[in-house]
Amino acid sequence: MFKKLAIGAAFALALAPAASFAAGGGEQHIEDFSFSFEGPFGTWDKNQLQRGLQVYTEVCAACHGLKYVPLRTLEDLGYSEEEVIAYAAGNFEVFDPELDDFRPAIPTDHFPANDGVGAPDLSLMAKARAGFHGPYGLGINQFFKGMGGAEYIASLLDGYTGHEKEEAGTVLYENTAFPGGWISMAPPLAEDQVEFTDGHPATVEAMSEDIAAFLMWTAEPKMMERKYSGFVGVIFLSLLSVLLYLVNKRLWAAVKGKKTA
Ligand code: HEC
Repeated sequence: MFKKLAIGAAFALALAPAASFAAGGGEQHIEDFSFSFEGPFGTWDKNQLQRGLQVYTEVCAACHGLKYVPLRTLEDLGYSEEEVIAYAAGNFEVFDPELDDFRPAIPTDHFPANDGVGAPDLSLMAKARAGFHGPYGLGINQFFKGMGGAEYIASLLDGYTGHEKEEAGTVLYENTAFPGGWISMAPPLAEDQVEFTDGHPATVEAMSEDIAAFLMWTAEPKMMERKYSGFVGVIFLSLLSVLLYLVNKRLWAAVKGKKTA
């Protein structure tokens, strides 16, 4: 019995590195950033989300849409109603079928879609990608590190090596996080590309983390509420288990322990 277990364990250990290598698609490298929203008690860092919004607006919005995100939800990032109105009108135009024309966006609109250069919509990107995998579907990495959608985005933006090549008329850029190693998105971020109002340094790595956190928020704006209800659920169920245990004891007392009868 023990021998069998030992052989099994040794086999699993031998297999694990090979499997994670295969799942990672070669040399794919995902940095395990520590975001404020991770873990059962993690919360959003609203300053970071605001910086991420700024990076999105000034850089990514040129190519990527956020069509599933209503502009009014920006109030959750700590902006006042007036600020959201001003932001919407100042940055986006939407097509209004009633006017049959474009007009400045208002908070009840969504961020516009953008398929100008065939870039994917970013609303749910942080949930659509995983930074950590397997080995072989066991989810060991994911169990310890989480799904890593935000880590993937941050690593992607910070993962350009500077090499590029042309293939069938398309320029591809080498990237250590992108599966396959070559992506058609040119490196979008450069040092000091945006100027943060809170004086935060605008290195490529810092901006990558900020926009990744922001995209985690767009993909799962109710994450804190989900964690909270999960926590309440666990407390409730633990209490219920204690009560059921006591009820069970009492119901069977007469039959089991003749002394108490
Ligand atoms: C000049 C246009 C352009 C800009 C600016 C741009 N992107 Fe992209 N992005 C693209 C294109 C094109 C693709 C599709 C690349 C591919 O599949 O090879 C892409 C793909 C992506 C992907 C998906 C990668 C995957 O796993 O499929 C993410 C995430 C992304 N961009 C994030 C961003 C962020 C965040 C910014 C702002 C910091 C940004 N992009 C700025 C053009 C752009």
